[in-house]
Amino acid sequence: MAEDLIKIQGSRADQYEHLFPQVKSLLAGESDKYANLANIAAAIHDIFGFFWIGFYLVKDDELVLGPFQGPVACTRIPFNKGVCGYAYTERKTVIVPNVDEFPGHIACASASKSEIVIPVFHENQVILVLDVDSDSLNDFSEEDQIGLEKIMGLIEENWPTWN
Ligand code: SME
Repeated sequence: MAEDLIKIQGSRADQYEHLFPQVKSLLAGESDKYANLANIAAAIHDIFGFFWIGFYLVKDDELVLGPFQGPVACTRIPFNKGVCGYAYTERKTVIVPNVDEFPGHIACASASKSEIVIPVFHENQVILVLDVDSDSLNDFSEEDQIGLEKIMGLIEENWPTWN
C-alpha cells in the first residue's frame, strides 16, 4: 500500500540511505514492472525534486521512454545517441556535469544542465536505464551514483518476478 514518503534533512548520501528501505517497501507485493518503475521514479523525484527523472527501456533495438516524472520527453533514443545511449553502450553509470559539453547530448528540455544515467542489468544485458536531469550545473556526484545504483539494485533483484 502506498504511503507518504518520509523526508529527512541531511546530505544526499543520508537521504538516499533513508529512501532505500522506503522504496523497497513500496515494491513489496507488486509484480507489475510499470507500476513499480513509476513509483521508483516518483519516490526519487519526491525526495530530491530533480527537474526530470525517468526510465528508458530497451525495446526494438532502441531505448523507449518508460515511467517518468517531469516535462514531456523524447520517446525513442538510438543506442548510439545521447547520454542514455552512451551509458547503454558502455554499460556503466555516466555523470555529465555540463550537458552542453557532452558530445551528442540529446536536449529534451533546454532547462536541463547536468545529468546522470545508470544502466540496469538482467542476465548480463542492459534492460533499461535510469536518466536523471538537473536544472543546475554539476548537480550529481558519486553520492548520487552510489545511492541511485543501490536503488537500481532493487530492480535487478526483483526483475525476474515482475511482469
Ligand atoms: N538527455 C538524454 C535524453 C533524455 S532526456 O534528458 C529526458 C540523453 O542525452 O540521452
